[in-house]
Amino acid sequence: MKNINPTQTTAWKKLEKHFNEVQQLQLKELFEKDTERASAFTIAWEDFYLDYSKNRITNETRDLLLELAKECELQSAIDSYFNGDAINKTENRAVLHTALRAPAGSEITLDGENVVPEVQEVKEKIRKFSEKIISGEKKGFTGKAFTDVVNIGIGGSDLGPVMITESLQFYQNHLKVHYVSNVDGDHVNEILKNLNPETTLFLVVSKTFTTQETLSNATTIRNWFRKTAPQEAVAEHFAAVSSNLKNVEEFGIAIENVFPMWDWVGGRFSLWSAVGLSISLAVGYNNFEALLNGAHMMDQHFKTSDFKENIPVQLAMLSIWYNNFYEAESEAVIPYTQYLHRLPAYLQQAIMESNGKSVDRNGKKVDYQTGTLIWGEPGTNSQHAFFQLIHQGTKLIPADFIGFKKSLHQNEDHHNKLMANFFAQTEALLQGKSKVEVKQELEAQGLSKDAVEKLLPFKEFDGNKPTNTLLIDKLTPESLGKLIAMYEHKIFVQGVIWNIFSYDQWGVELGKQLASKILAEIESKSPDSHDSSTKNLLTFFLK
Ligand code: F6P
Repeated sequence: MKNINPTQTTAWKKLEKHFNEVQQLQLKELFEKDTERASAFTIAWEDFYLDYSKNRITNETRDLLLELAKECELQSAIDSYFNGDAINKTENRAVLHTALRAPAGSEITLDGENVVPEVQEVKEKIRKFSEKIISGEKKGFTGKAFTDVVNIGIGGSDLGPVMITESLQFYQNHLKVHYVSNVDGDHVNEILKNLNPETTLFLVVSKTFTTQETLSNATTIRNWFRKTAPQEAVAEHFAAVSSNLKNVEEFGIAIENVFPMWDWVGGRFSLWSAVGLSISLAVGYNNFEALLNGAHMMDQHFKTSDFKENIPVQLAMLSIWYNNFYEAESEAVIPYTQYLHRLPAYLQQAIMESNGKSVDRNGKKVDYQTGTLIWGEPGTNSQHAFFQLIHQGTKLIPADFIGFKKSLHQNEDHHNKLMANFFAQTEALLQGKSKVEVKQELEAQGLSKDAVEKLLPFKEFDGNKPTNTLLIDKLTPESLGKLIAMYEHKIFVQGVIWNIFSYDQWGVELGKQLASKILAEIESKSPDSHDSSTKNLLTFFLK
């Protein structure tokens, strides 16, 4: 990939000048001036309808942002990404989660070998395994069918699977799927409390199989299991997903229950691999496959669409517009469906672990902003929590609103109310409420002139708050696959423009190293030399 400092491009300079001219633009006026604005800034693709007209942009802004993408050679970067070039330079790896959802028969070569047949082989193993567990053909050590599955993993080996399983709860079968991630023993103990070892299957999911949290939880669970089950039963009840077969074997998991993964799949992009085994168990292999198909459709859209019609490209460039020109620090993601309640948490890892970098591809400190902060909660709950700050706070918070035309349980009454809120919020954020409107409203309520004057400043809303509205037909495994792949590609585009490496995560290493050093000190009850704060805290903890 090219090494281009975005701020040195002609497009960036033009954007800076343009920003000075348009930063005071009022969305309300833009809509009044151009009655066709909404359709000019809408992309309809498959069952996705993205309206990004409620953003502080003009046609020129969009043109310049796309000029920036071209000047940063985005298209050739996309080709490198899909072709399996080693774009994860600091680890010398390709980034090929897109190969996990490529259809059988396609060809994606890495070091001269087509990786697709191997991917298909693992998928077939996932299918067979899932079907045997779901049907009850494969049984536990006392001959009973499995009723519960526990996924033991953290980060990418947890967040993706748990988010998808929660999102597809409507499609779930009889198996109850649980997720243990935190090294906090209370997490694992709470989950074990209600489980029967005879009917529970455990999946130890760790790409490296060296992660402290996962190995501690897996060991605790194996010890708990062995209290009632014989040693041979471990092979029946434990499966693993990992690229470290040696460590898996040492842990004692039968080789036929090991699902491989590859170093060209990053942890936070791994739910499409065997890391998604718990998804396949929860909703059945066909639904898992539909999820992958949806992601593949988005891959194709991203790879081949003109940038102007390209959903991930437009979303990424808008995010850059706010991050680098308006200096907005965070973005909110608000799904209007309870099913997607873990989406913001999942995106926090995907986005912040990828683009939370301050060194460019030359190894030099960047002098511009990179990764955005991501947060959110489902609507309408979030309206009653943090929306006040989005509406009337001092910070600019661009937000993605994600809604569905159809509700899964077909409860029209509830769905109409939900969606009325969905549309009302983005309209309120755009329009705000002027002094004149507030005044009229208060006068109509019969308030005295004095009372009206006093209340006016508090009840006025500036509006002009940017939002994207993504309206999808229905929450299905396929549309969910498209949605997640959409954000993955948005991450990629932003990393390309910011000239950073999006696929490593060295920043999480230091804490891990210090934690293992401090653990030894805690276990020996002898704090080593530390800053006085850490030392005092350790002494207090050990007292
Ligand atoms: O938090 C760092 C990280 O390496 C993530 O990138 C990864 O998803 C997670 O730890 C878990 O890693 P593993 O699957 O190797 O246990």
